[in-house]
Amino acid sequence: MNGTALQVAVLAASSACTMPAAAQQPAATPAPDNAPFDVGQLFATTCGFCHSDGGRAPGRGPQLMDSPRDDDFMRNRIKNGKEGAMPTFGAAFSDAQIDEIIKYIRSLKPREG
Ligand code: HEC
Repeated sequence: MNGTALQVAVLAASSACTMPAAAQQPAATPAPDNAPFDVGQLFATTCGFCHSDGGRAPGRGPQLMDSPRDDDFMRNRIKNGKEGAMPTFGAAFSDAQIDEIIKYIRSLKPREG
């Protein structure tokens, strides 16, 4: 049933291997605002554990596609998390990156074919 998510994870892992070692940043350092920021990849790894299929399906967390929540609610949830439910990501992402994440969520469409 969850073959798609697995495929995405495998694809993401294999494309990460093509990065030259020198270009890799230590994982704990937030990327600068102008660095390429791949939200799809983020959802395949960090967020996908709880928001399945790139946010299209519920997991431990709610489905994000077609969310009735407004942008402020999402920004607050991503920054501050929710105790016992969702981790805090305020230190991991800049405001610009959180904007990217919200834009990604708003553009989610059901997969076709
Ligand atoms: C450990 C599980 C977990 C992880 C990892 C996680 N979330 Fe969540 N997320 C949740 C849960 C549970 C909720 C609902 C919290 C509540 O009850 O309001 C939530 C809510 C949200 C919401 C608000 C939508 C709504 O309808 O409540 C957004 C936006 C969101 N998450 C984005 C993200 C993003 C982006 C990431 C990755 C950077 C992420 N989440 C990672 C569990 C998780």
